[in-house]
Amino acid sequence: MHHFTYRDGRLHAEDVDVTTLADAVGTPFYCYSTATLERHYNLFAKAVGAPKSRVFFAMKANSNLAVLQTLARLGAGADTVSEGEIRKAMAAGIPADAIVFSGVGKADQELAHAVDVGLHQVNIETEGELHALSRIAAAKGRRQDAVFRINPDIGAGGHAKITTGSDANKFGISLSEAERLYTVAANLPGIRMMGLAVHIGSQIRVLDELQAAFTRLRALTERLGGQGHRVERLDLGGGLGIPYEMEEAVDHGPDLIHAYAEMVTRTFAGLDVELAFEPGRLIVGNAGILVTRALTLNPRAAKTILVVDAAMNDLIRPAMYDAFHDIWPVVAPAQGAGTQLYDVVGPICESGDTFATGRTLPEAQPGDLVALMTAGAYGAVMSSTYNSRLLVPEVMVRGAEWAVVRPRPSFEDLIGLDRVPAWLAPRS
Ligand code: LLP
Repeated sequence: MHHFTYRDGRLHAEDVDVTTLADAVGTPFYCYSTATLERHYNLFAKAVGAPKSRVFFAMKANSNLAVLQTLARLGAGADTVSEGEIRKAMAAGIPADAIVFSGVGKADQELAHAVDVGLHQVNIETEGELHALSRIAAAKGRRQDAVFRINPDIGAGGHAKITTGSDANKFGISLSEAERLYTVAANLPGIRMMGLAVHIGSQIRVLDELQAAFTRLRALTERLGGQGHRVERLDLGGGLGIPYEMEEAVDHGPDLIHAYAEMVTRTFAGLDVELAFEPGRLIVGNAGILVTRALTLNPRAAKTILVVDAAMNDLIRPAMYDAFHDIWPVVAPAQGAGTQLYDVVGPICESGDTFATGRTLPEAQPGDLVALMTAGAYGAVMSSTYNSRLLVPEVMVRGAEWAVVRPRPSFEDLIGLDRVPAWLAPRS
């Protein structure tokens, strides 16, 4: 469920008319709803039993400081994957002991930063990283709390590019290596092994694979315990999916969250461990939209190409994962107004710059505003300046209030990032 609804035929973000925002900020822009963020966070946190269990928001999904602070106020920690994310989380007021550092490859400098600031946990993915972290922490006279990210050889997710749990994927330590490495780790000076982590993919809507992976994690936990190892924490990753097709089931979210929480409780019943979760998409996905304006129409025999002012550099999910995003008119069509078959595309010089193919939508005219729905997760964070387009601004709404939480940069900002070498300078 989200808080983007029509009032008197005009799309509102909570109590704010989206057209007002478009007039004030210009298009395209991202718009986030505080009430939606809060609803999803609270729903998930309650279902999984926080604060007894811990919730680390996977900030790769959306790392705007305003989003992070909104969640931090509710008690969220952060799951980070780079020094930049660690620094951003801390800038948003999330304390180091509520930050987890995940990721397939971590530079020595990033590990040193993690140790220096005293992160809650580093999720180690390779034997090499284990030794690097121990060496770096020991040299500082410290021991870093860590867990092993296990590859359970069970993948899941909405697309091959976001499946992470199979042996063919680059992620985590093989189950067959886990016991040997846990023993190695237990004897290293700079590490305090706390447990295990798993994350098998993203946009998961069916729980079977997750349950199978968790069952393997439990069995490993018990084997390690039997060998006298300390396994106090299990980090169950993120991955729960959300409905992208609005017609589908408006309130499907709570059902899936509760089924998930119940499955987790069942799978780990009787085990004396602290559970942790790293949801990303589930928290922010439905809390954001990308608002764009129709530029022009290009009629073809079978359909009309609708060119809008947002492009794949602003929201890359359709181009990258063939992802579906619902498209809503910002001004609802009049009763009985016609529909048409559209390809909705951006202005970038690539055929992949297409948001929707063969979509039936209300008839649109140049100048009309449309919203790409469910764009709060992996939207703004994956944007780029391809085609020398400016990064899209972000707006946050709270009730009747709104604020620009990231302004649109200027063309001077864009051009000023580059430097021209001396040999190209005009000779005097
Ligand atoms: N934990 C780890 C270790 C992860 O790698 C991820 C996501 C998460 C948590 C959060 O997963 P979520 O709850 O959001 O599914 N850009 C893609 C999604 C990439 C997901 C990467 N890892 C997309 O737009 O669909």
